[in-house]
Amino acid sequence: MNTHSPEEEFKSLARGIAWWGGLTLGGISAVFLALLALSTSTPKTAVPEAVITEPTTPISIADRIAQSGDTQLQDGYAFFVHTDETLGPQQENPERRITGNGLKCSSCHLNEGTQPFGLPLNGVSQRFPQYRGREDKIGTLAERVNGCFTRSMNGKALDTAQYEMKAIISYIDWLDLNQAGTEAQKVKGLKPIELPNRAVDLAHGKEVYDRACALCHQGNGLGLKNPGAISYTYPPLWGPDAYNNGAGMSRVITAAQFIKNNMPFGINYENPTLTDEEAYDVAGFINQQPRPQKSNLEQDFPNLVKKPVSTPYPPYLDPFPQSQHQMGPYPEIIAYYAKQYQEEKKN
Ligand code: HEC
Ligand code: HEC
Repeated sequence: MNTHSPEEEFKSLARGIAWWGGLTLGGISAVFLALLALSTSTPKTAVPEAVITEPTTPISIADRIAQSGDTQLQDGYAFFVHTDETLGPQQENPERRITGNGLKCSSCHLNEGTQPFGLPLNGVSQRFPQYRGREDKIGTLAERVNGCFTRSMNGKALDTAQYEMKAIISYIDWLDLNQAGTEAQKVKGLKPIELPNRAVDLAHGKEVYDRACALCHQGNGLGLKNPGAISYTYPPLWGPDAYNNGAGMSRVITAAQFIKNNMPFGINYENPTLTDEEAYDVAGFINQQPRPQKSNLEQDFPNLVKKPVSTPYPPYLDPFPQSQHQMGPYPEIIAYYAKQYQEEKKN
C-alpha cells in the first residue's frame, strides 16, 4: 500500500506534524501517516476497515531520527543520549573528549529531552537568544549548551561553530519542530515546590536518600555501572563523575524541584511520591556531598541581583551567610530581594 522510501515517509510525517500541531504522539502519527498514504492513493470511501483498526506501535524518537537520513541530526541525537560514550572522558578520539564526568545530557533532560517538568528542551530553540543572568547578557542557544557542558557535564566548552555543537542544536531544533503541541512543549523547565521555611534537615535528607534513592544511585552516591562499561545504568549524584558545584542542579531549590517530580525514577509530576519537605531535604543532603569544583565561579553573575538564591558559591549581594544560600531557609532571602531590588526569585 505504501511505496514511499523511509526518507520520504519521514518528511511527510514531519510535515503532517507541523500541520496538525497536536497530533504528535508516535501512535497517532503512525495512524495519520497510514491515512495520509491511503488518502493519496485510494478514494476515501474505499478505505478498508482492516487497515484502520490494525494495531500500530508508536514510532520512537530513535526510529524517527534513524529514518531521517540526516547524519548531523543522528549524531546530535547520539551526543545527547549517549554523551558518555560519544563525547566522554573515555572517548578514543581525543578531540571528542569534551565532557568530564559520567553523565549524559538525557540523565537530567529526561526522556530524550521531552519529559514535562523533567527539564524538557522542546520549544527551547524558539526562546533563544535569551537574557541570561549568569553572564548578564543576551546569550545564544550554543552558549547555553556550553553552560551545561562546563557545569552539569564538568567538561570543556565547545566552539559554537564546531560540528558537535551544531549537531546537538540540530537535535534540539528537531524536538522543537517534531514535538509541536505536545504537553512537554507547553511546560518550561521545572515545577515549583512549596519551600519549607526552615533550613535543610541533613539527617532527614540522608534518611530519605537511604530509603528512596540508594537502591539505584548506591549508598555511596557514586552510581552503578557494569564493570568495564563506560555507561552508568544509574548515574552518580556526587563524587568525581557527577555534576560540578557550578551546575544548576547544585542549587538546592532546582534539585528539589527536579527530584520531587522525577525521582525515584519511574514517577512523574502527576504521581510524585516524595513530599516537598522530603525532596528539599534530600536535595540539600546530595548537594552537601563532595563533587568536582569549577574554577572562576566568582565571575558568574556579573549582576548579582540576578543570582539565584540557592547558588552555593559566593559572592552574594545580601547579608545572608553562604550556609543559608546552600541550605536555607530561603523565604527570607527571597523576601529581601523582592524588597530591596524588586527582583522575583525562583531558585
Ligand atoms: C546534571 C543535570 C544536567 C545535565 C547532565 C545537563 N543539563 Fe542541561 N540543564 C540542567 C538544568 C538544571 C538546566 C536549567 C537550570 C538553570 O540553569 O537554570 C539546564 C538547562 C539547559 C538548557 C536551557 C533550557 C531552557 O529551558 O532554557 C539547554 C539547552 C541544556 N540544558 C542543554 C543540555 C545539553 C545539550 C546537555 C548535554 C551536553 C545538558 N544540558 C546536560 C541540567 C542538566
Ligand atoms: C529506580 C532507580 C532510581 C531511583 C530509586 C532513583 N533514581 Fe535518580 N535517576 C535514575 C536514573 C536511571 C537516572 C537517569 C535518567 C536517564 O538517564 O534517563 C536518574 C537521574 C537522577 C538525577 C540527575 C542525574 C544525576 O546523576 O545527577 C538526580 C539528581 C537524581 N536521579 C536524584 C535521585 C534522588 C534524590 C532519588 C531518591 C529520591 C533518586 N534519584 C532515586 C534512577 C533512579
